Amino acid sequence: MTDQMTAQKIYVAGHRGMVGSAIIRQLLPPNTHSPIPTPRIITRTHDELDLTNQQAVRDFFQTEKPDQVYLAAAKVGGIHANNTYPADFIYQNLMMESNIVDAAFNAGVKKLLFLGSSCIYPKHASQPMSESALLTGTLEPTNEPYAIAKIAGIKLCESYNRQYGKSHGIDYRSVMPTNLYGPGDNYHPQNSHVIPALIRRFHEAKINNDPTVTVWGSGTPRREFLHVDDMAAACVHVMNLDKATYEQHTEPMQSHINVGWGDDVTIHELAETVSQVVGYTGKIEFDTSKPDGSPRKLIDSSRLKSLGWEAAIPLQEGLATTYEDFLNSGE
Ligand SMILES: NC(=O)c1ccc[n+]([C@@H]2O[C@H](COP(=O)([O-])OP(=O)(O)OC[C@H]3O[C@@H](n4cnc5c(N)ncnc54)[C@H](OP(=O)(O)O)[C@@H]3O)[C@@H](O)[C@H]2O)c1
Repeated sequence: MTDQMTAQKIYVAGHRGMVGSAIIRQLLPPNTHSPIPTPRIITRTHDELDLTNQQAVRDFFQTEKPDQVYLAAAKVGGIHANNTYPADFIYQNLMMESNIVDAAFNAGVKKLLFLGSSCIYPKHASQPMSESALLTGTLEPTNEPYAIAKIAGIKLCESYNRQYGKSHGIDYRSVMPTNLYGPGDNYHPQNSHVIPALIRRFHEAKINNDPTVTVWGSGTPRREFLHVDDMAAACVHVMNLDKATYEQHTEPMQSHINVGWGDDVTIHELAETVSQVVGYTGKIEFDTSKPDGSPRKLIDSSRLKSLGWEAAIPLQEGLATTYEDFLNSGE
């Protein structure tokens, strides 16, 4: 019987997060007539299993012995949180990754997918940033501890593959998403990323009949955004690629794969699109006294394209489902 015909036992770490919950939606498609058996998904909340606790993680893996692991648990946050809690960001992320990768290996897990972030690339990397830009320059100082932990996660997967790939048949892979948005996002007024923050601002302005919405910065920086359901589909695609194809397109010490939309938009264009989706009809102004950040941040997703996957959810369509999620979240 092939692997495809055996129901896989899959552990999704971080299943209540934006990405982890999208991976579960992706793994459990509504099509019940599929010849592939529905996988058995295993999850633990943070309260049930603190992934920074090495013994607890070892015990969990020895008891459950999953076939596959999606590592979507992490301590994540914006600039303010990264600047205020750098010790928490590096320590907790290093611990979670190290505990999970080693415990998975010792429990006989053959396949694991680690989720990193495009912040692993140097601050001044040429655009679009390809996988080969890794470790070629200095990182952005505000999230350096987080980025170092993510780079360590890639190197953990690669090192276990190099030492145990042949002898134990393990195959641990990494994906580096661009900025994500979509259902399950954090719409907190102070701590959210640009898309959920704009959704909230334009929604509140619409309700209050505000004549203008002011957006920070000049509006000219370019950014790339990917819907989280596209990201989840890419994760499942990369996890299930056959080994020969994966190895043809990667190197043992440069094995990570970028996951992006493939193009970027200006913050001005983004603000216009969000205002249309929300139905705000007032004016948009830009506060040029506020910092812009890097002029452009785009990742090169051609490696993933050559591996047979491309994103499918356009920004306007993705923003519409995200706005619906915001309205349903009661925020
Ligand atoms: N969102 C983005 O734009 C984006 C972009 C690039 C990369 N990524 C990557 O994608 C991955 C998932 O991100 P996300 O946006 O889904 O984050 P998220 O919504 O914050 O989810 C992270 C999950 O990890 C759990 N977790 C954190 N610490 C834990 C611990 N010590 N023990 C057990 N569980 C713990 C959290 O549970 P609690 O909330 O209960 O602590 C949460 O469910 C991360 O690796 C991130 O770097 C995200």
